[in-house]
Amino acid sequence: MALRNIVTEGDPILQKKCRPVEKFDTKLHTLLDDMAETLYDSGGVGLAAPQVGILRRVCVIDVGDGLFEFINPEIIESEGEQENVEGCLSCPEQFGITRRPKYLKVKFFDRNGEEQIIEGEDFFAQAMSHEFDHLDGILFKTKVLRMLSKEELNEMREES
Ligand code: NI
Repeated sequence: MALRNIVTEGDPILQKKCRPVEKFDTKLHTLLDDMAETLYDSGGVGLAAPQVGILRRVCVIDVGDGLFEFINPEIIESEGEQENVEGCLSCPEQFGITRRPKYLKVKFFDRNGEEQIIEGEDFFAQAMSHEFDHLDGILFKTKVLRMLSKEELNEMREES
């Protein structure tokens, strides 16, 4: 496993649409392993392939319940709304309030090419929505309701 470099806002790769994965081979497994390592090293909760410079529909998420690997994810059901603070590893030190679905049902493939279905709500649904947006070249800042000010960020840090 190896750490990959996380590209940041301003890199045009973050605005490109990713292609689906077609081969569930060792190259994919290496990418997934590296992305997990990079995610845990960064202290974030999710990482999408374009953030490490790969334009494939792959992302990894761990909101504290273990690692989930999503390949070619597709939202098949979406319900409700939530507004929460959100950030992105590609936009360091920037946070804003977004509106995301409260519940998502998602079809995806695992690393072995087996189709899976998962349901998620609250923070997990927010994270899935954020990461899947990356696969279509969408950064959270383009759909943020309001960015947090420096004062609000400082308050958030004091609380945590
Ligand atoms: Ni992000």
